[in-house]
Amino acid sequence: MQRWWLLLRGFSLCLTVSLLLQGRGDTFTINCSGFDRNGVDPAAFQAVFARKAFRPVLNYSIPTHVNISFTLSAILEVNAQLQLLTSFLWMDLIWDNPFISWNPKDCVGINKLTISAENLWLPDIFIVESMDVDKTPSGLTVYVSSEGRIKYGKPTRLTSICNLDIFYFPFDQQNCTFTFSSFLYTVDSMLLGMVKEVWEITDTSRDVIQTQGEWELLGINKATPKMFVGSNLYDQIVFYVAIRRRPILYVINLLVPSSFLVAIDALSFFLPAESENRAPFKITLLLGYNVFLLMMNDLLPASGTPLISVYFALCLSLMVVSLLETIFITYLLHVATTQPPPMPQWLHSLLLHCSSPTKCCCGEPQRGNKDEGLTSTCLPGLKEPVELVGKMSSSAEAEPARAQQEHEAQKQHLVDLWVQFSHVMDTLLFRLYLLFMASSIITIIVLWNT
Ligand SMILES: *[C@@H]1O[C@H](CO)[C@@H](O)[C@H](O)[C@H]1NC(C)=O
Ligand SMILES: *[C@@H]1O[C@H](CO)[C@@H](O)[C@H](O)[C@H]1NC(C)=O
Ligand SMILES: *[C@@H]1O[C@H](CO)[C@@H](O)[C@H](O)[C@H]1NC(C)=O
Ligand SMILES: *[C@@H]1O[C@H](CO)[C@@H](O)[C@H](O)[C@H]1NC(C)=O
Repeated sequence: MQRWWLLLRGFSLCLTVSLLLQGRGDTFTINCSGFDRNGVDPAAFQAVFARKAFRPVLNYSIPTHVNISFTLSAILEVNAQLQLLTSFLWMDLIWDNPFISWNPKDCVGINKLTISAENLWLPDIFIVESMDVDKTPSGLTVYVSSEGRIKYGKPTRLTSICNLDIFYFPFDQQNCTFTFSSFLYTVDSMLLGMVKEVWEITDTSRDVIQTQGEWELLGINKATPKMFVGSNLYDQIVFYVAIRRRPILYVINLLVPSSFLVAIDALSFFLPAESENRAPFKITLLLGYNVFLLMMNDLLPASGTPLISVYFALCLSLMVVSLLETIFITYLLHVATTQPPPMPQWLHSLLLHCSSPTKCCCGEPQRGNKDEGLTSTCLPGLKEPVELVGKMSSSAEAEPARAQQEHEAQKQHLVDLWVQFSHVMDTLLFRLYLLFMASSIITIIVLWNT
């Protein structure tokens, strides 16, 4: 009797233990009875839900493998001043929970279930560059497969810090990093892997990004360096997201108008130097350019010195220089026509040299009719100095009327010479201006292309 009782007690103990351990044995199979009639029985998952505070592993020396993936669904804003990139990510995390498994045949063919995410343990994967509180919506669900594989997807508005270099604005590319890492678990407890290849992530992201906004996705690369913090080693996956600005808006609104203004400024050198209109015209251009810069200022990045600012400064200085040149030539002409100072001999010969038809000013060398035709057509009023000196010496001994006339002619000749000199200066400065403009613009274009 005693033995029977002991046997019964032992048996009931065994039964109790086995009932208690049910769903906690080697297989942790979930009891699906009744799922076909009443839906999922919450009691069947109670044992799993009760463990959500702990990392779900059978042996704590086994690290949990979390595979991650993401889809970049929008590039919302790039803030060069704060060095922040705002984007929208769909993050996917996949890991195994060994305490969940069921036999789909027993469970009316259910292969996977959705379970509210707050009932399960979730890995604490975060993005190291994130500079904002986690804006993940609450009340997300996870997919649980019959083998215990858990798929958790969360949409995240990510504000991440990124080293933005706006030197090449608006033709700039940025290389931002998203580093996925566990906040707490070291490599002993958590290892990271990839759900899919990085080119698949790139392709999906390209397909998903519908916006034709300012930024376009160039490509995504990845690296998997481990991170040491103190003596702890953390697993992490670094994604390099390369994005490129679409420059067309800035080309149309900034570069083209400014180039037109500079071109008009250069062309205004063809207005005759004697004309009263040249200086006012250039001042108007300068004023217009300043208004343009004021209006377009908010299109420029708020910080740093992009090359385009250098370009604008260059355009402005070209205009200022051309205005100064006009003022100088106007002054020269004024002096020349009112009270011409005597012209130094070297300047005179230089002028003659420079304005001779074989040299710069008069195009093709035409030696045949050098003295009469060409000097008069190219440089009206300019005569050979020897002839002039001869005239001057001969005029000294003539009668007063003739001397007066000679003096007038001489003065007129000097005026002509100075006017001549002004025109030569104007041409010369214009060429220098063109040379400077061309070389600086070529330099900037070359810099932009590197
Ligand atoms: C499953 O649970 C039901 C009650 O919910 C119970 O009757 C049945 O015996 C259990 N099946 C197994 C295999 O534990
Ligand atoms: C847990 O895993 C470690 C290393 O894999 C092993 O040495 C240990 O025996 C395991 N413990 C149990 C209870 O299985
Ligand atoms: C993670 O990815 C690796 C390699 O692709 C794979 O072997 C492993 O089963 C995956 N683990 C999970 C939990 O998805
Ligand atoms: C981004 O930067 C990383 C490291 O600095 C580099 O390995 C990667 O190739 C860069 N990506 C692009 C597209 O330039």
